[in-house]
Amino acid sequence: MSQTQPGTAARPDLPADFLLGAATSAYQIEGAVDEDGRTPSIWDTFCRTPGRISDGDTGDVAVDHYHRWPEDVALMADLGLQAYRFSVSWPRVQPTGRGPAVQRGLDFYRALVDALLERGITPWLTLYHWDLPQELEGDPATGGAGWPERATAERFAEYAVLVAEALGDRVEHWTTLNEPWCSAFLGYGSGVHAPGRTDHVAALRAAHHLNLAHGLATQALRANLPGRAKVGISLNPAAVRARSDTTADLDARRRVEALSNGVFEGPLLHGAYPEDLIADTDHLTDWSFVKDGDLAAVHQPLDALGVNYYTPTLVSAVPEGAAADRRDGHGQGEQTPWPGADRVAFHQPPGPLTAMGWSVDATGLRDVLRRLAKEAAGVPLYVTENGMARDDRPAADGSVHDPERVAYLHDHLAEVARARAEGVDVRGYFLWSLLDNFEWAYGYGKRFGAVHVDYETQRRTPKTSARWYAELIRTRRLPP
Ligand code: NOJ
Repeated sequence: MSQTQPGTAARPDLPADFLLGAATSAYQIEGAVDEDGRTPSIWDTFCRTPGRISDGDTGDVAVDHYHRWPEDVALMADLGLQAYRFSVSWPRVQPTGRGPAVQRGLDFYRALVDALLERGITPWLTLYHWDLPQELEGDPATGGAGWPERATAERFAEYAVLVAEALGDRVEHWTTLNEPWCSAFLGYGSGVHAPGRTDHVAALRAAHHLNLAHGLATQALRANLPGRAKVGISLNPAAVRARSDTTADLDARRRVEALSNGVFEGPLLHGAYPEDLIADTDHLTDWSFVKDGDLAAVHQPLDALGVNYYTPTLVSAVPEGAAADRRDGHGQGEQTPWPGADRVAFHQPPGPLTAMGWSVDATGLRDVLRRLAKEAAGVPLYVTENGMARDDRPAADGSVHDPERVAYLHDHLAEVARARAEGVDVRGYFLWSLLDNFEWAYGYGKRFGAVHVDYETQRRTPKTSARWYAELIRTRRLPP
């Protein structure tokens, strides 16, 4: 039993003002894909393309959150969540990606937000978690449009205004984009995400237009909600490690860092693309899609920088003449998602593996936070996603025991606490995910939830990890 010295208060591991919440996204949980005026997103289309998603799964029903949200909010309150990070489905609110909003779509989010506020749960709203209205992607047979085109960034800023007008009186925390790296490089480069295109130049163009979309939307949110909106973005900064200290391996790491981190952090935090990124990709493009004024538009002050972290990345250089290893942890794409890194090999980092085959190494999270404390000096950091997939199965009594997830969450939160103790300004943590859900190309086979969902009955059962997290939120103490 721990003893407190008389006269000294027990020191909590995570202070009371450190925000503890959980996260989800619209397409992964809502279902109801053709209700109340919603039209298809690129993910609806992708799911209908044979061979794209494990077992042919789709988000048609998902965990039926569109109808069961009151039960889900009650669950969040039960767990004592301080904040809930969710995303708005663009095609539910503005079906064609242009023109006026659909009131029924907005009403859904308004009711959700009101219920959260009533329970004292702070809403953290993400405007884009990968579900682009199909209309804006256009017809693949004619080349497609979507994020490689500048107009999509302009449409996104208009959509942001529609959501701000409807919810700006209730929502203070706004995230423009979730993991634009995945939208650009998995969606248009390796093709393992919607819309499934495999064109390196399109991926680089998409990255720029996502950056621009963030900048334009940030300006639009602040103009519409003066002094009221806190605006940020959630990135998935890679913790890249080199397999050795040879010049070649260190250069492989540098390339992957530029194509994972610099491509977003450069313009967002410093108003410029890194010179080495431009040089590494100059055989593909001259970057003339970056127009005058774009970088200033992207480089807006950030109220929050979201960090999504799961696993580190281990690389080495591929010797001349050898074939490149494509095991990059991002599925079996037709080509690597990294356009200027075709001579880089990806390796399994040490550590136990999750059901995704991702190595567990919490020190990667601390490394990312430390690096960003310098790179994004003055910007508050939030871990906006962290968690693990596990093959969770209910026991005979219906309970779901997930000790590996408890250990994973514990160890990652301990690294966050360590980073804080070192002076890193990290102010909150969102567990991914509140509920088991649709894990993109992997379908329903990979469970990330702290709450188990029986996909036949839609019954929700908090796992051991959910109870553990609730206790942590209550006590703020991370047991050793
Ligand atoms: C990041 C994404 O934002 C989320 O949608 C996904 O489910 C998790 N990573 C796990 O892969």
